Amino acid sequence: MKDGNPAQQFTHDPTLPGGKDVICEIRDGIAFVSLNRPEKRNCISPGIVNDANAILDALEKDDRAKVVVITGSGDSFSAGQDLKEYFREPAKWHPVDRERLHYNNSRWQWRKLLYYGKPTIAMVNGWCFGGAFQVLVGCDIAVTADESSFGMSEINWGIIPAGIVTKSATYTMTPRKAMYYIISGDTFSGKEAEQYGLVTFSVPADQLMEKVKSIAANLMKKNPHVLRSCKVAYHYVRDMSWDMAGEYLSAKSDQNKFTDPEAGAAKGMTQFLDEKSYRPGLGAYDRTK
Ligand code: ACO
Repeated sequence: MKDGNPAQQFTHDPTLPGGKDVICEIRDGIAFVSLNRPEKRNCISPGIVNDANAILDALEKDDRAKVVVITGSGDSFSAGQDLKEYFREPAKWHPVDRERLHYNNSRWQWRKLLYYGKPTIAMVNGWCFGGAFQVLVGCDIAVTADESSFGMSEINWGIIPAGIVTKSATYTMTPRKAMYYIISGDTFSGKEAEQYGLVTFSVPADQLMEKVKSIAANLMKKNPHVLRSCKVAYHYVRDMSWDMAGEYLSAKSDQNKFTDPEAGAAKGMTQFLDEKSYRPGLGAYDRTK
């Protein structure tokens, strides 16, 4: 245990790919995907990237996984990109190979996560630096321990927060705080990350797992088809004008009604208006009926 953060350990489900630099354990509908280089503070290596891409691809089709949680083994979420394996060694490579290395990394960190088919939660249990912001913001929800430390440390070693780190910070954080932490490289706590909008909730370290499980349990009650459409729409409309967003949401809503395998809207209305068995303002309709 370091700075109040409990050391986390998961086991790997042998039916899934990965198992070395990223491991995954499925418990009660939640797939815990854990970056697994604790001795290197889970800094992101090509090994992590390959395992993460393979595991996330597999989980998208695995009915046992209803919610995906991304976290870190030991007492760190992730110390960002591996400076040796992502910056020093590739500097000698052919530029095309270097570009492929970075593209493969962006694939799981945000290209895949932003539009992932299942709800995702980043569970931040310690250090979270630089490149790890991309995973953090790629997830739909982020929950951290108050005791965690966040930082865009790029400036401290002479680069800008590239990849998509600056975009991730400006997408979530209040503008003044994003600018301050980008140019200062200072660290901030889990509680501050919550105040600045970078994470959804910050809780004491010993409540982190329970908080994540209770959020996941709530998400599991929702219609998964509609939930996915909600998150995809959230990201797309942010870059649209009001008029375009209105048109897009109207079309998306129609599409959703026609493609929803459980015809949720009709069920929800019947259970509320006719059966009077639930109140939509206070919770989801019963999907088992
Ligand atoms: N890249 C490569 N190696 C790393 C990284 C990293 N990002 N972070 C930690 N390590 C390695 C260390 O070199 C060390 O290796 P060694 O045992 O072979 O010497 C091991 O992990 C443990 O690191 P320590 O520094 O000893 O751990 P400590 O708990 O004292 O400090 C901390 C943790 C604060 C996270 C520190 O390791 C650190 O500052 N890491 C770099 C953070 C950073 O700036 N990340 C890059 C952001 S920029 C980007 O992502 C693009």
